[in-house]
Amino acid sequence: MAVHEGFRTTSGGLRDCFPLRLYTKAKRLGAWDPADVDFTQDRRDWQSLDEIQQETILSLTSLFVAGEEAVTLDLLPLVLAIARDRRVEEEMYLTTFLYEEAKHTELFARFLTEVAGSPGDLERFHVPSYRTIFYEELPAAMERLLTDPSRTALARASVTYNMIVEGVLAETGYHSYHESLAANGLMPGLCASLVHVKRDESRHIAYGVYLLSRLVAEDPATWETIEERMTELFPYALGVVTETFAKYASDEPPFGLKEETFADFAASQFHKRYDRIARARGKTLAEIDTIAEEDTAA
Ligand code: MN
Ligand code: FE2
Repeated sequence: MAVHEGFRTTSGGLRDCFPLRLYTKAKRLGAWDPADVDFTQDRRDWQSLDEIQQETILSLTSLFVAGEEAVTLDLLPLVLAIARDRRVEEEMYLTTFLYEEAKHTELFARFLTEVAGSPGDLERFHVPSYRTIFYEELPAAMERLLTDPSRTALARASVTYNMIVEGVLAETGYHSYHESLAANGLMPGLCASLVHVKRDESRHIAYGVYLLSRLVAEDPATWETIEERMTELFPYALGVVTETFAKYASDEPPFGLKEETFADFAASQFHKRYDRIARARGKTLAEIDTIAEEDTAA
């Protein structure tokens, strides 16, 4: 018995749609190699830092590197769900997505080994809210797709992965970290690669916004699931920031890092994404495609 009823390429060709255009973009803009990053000056900078400064960089890197490893490990069920749904253009984009998460993992792993001298136990920096998101909620929501590819399960998975982990945590973390390192003229190799990482992440998030908007356009009731999941997880995203900064208590964190900068940016990213997906209600699929294009162009 045939499993495939036919193929897109032999029945009219690939569909021009936002994910396929994102795929084209990813091949062009995502072509950077973490192995090429020159960490020579970063190593010198590391040696010049005091213990508290080193500890701060280690704590943030431990959140980033495990986060990247988690999104590398946990994306596959979404790729499978999209493939089973025969959305080949979306799957083509997702091949670049997973590859990029692997490269981000490689980048931060290289930084820890080659710049920070392979420090041991970094999991002590994984504060309780971080553990809730990365050790429990993310893998559970993604793995659920293996047995439940319903619209509700897809929406919950994508909110967790694209909106909370990438759209709030990764964007906030990389933005604030990059800004304060650059302002202090530190870690030029890492700073240069963060530009690539942020650009990759913005495509991932654009796909997530597209996917969630598509789900809402297909069934407006999906919006309630999305809203509920975002509200459920946002306190943990904010918790990652407050719990990480709690250890500085009365002392100022180094590099001019400020809890408010992280928290404000996280809140504004959250509301931006929330509004974008809310706009998908009552829209057609063709309109979703256009909106997604406009959002990424802006
Ligand atoms: Mn990433
Ligand atoms: Fe990502």
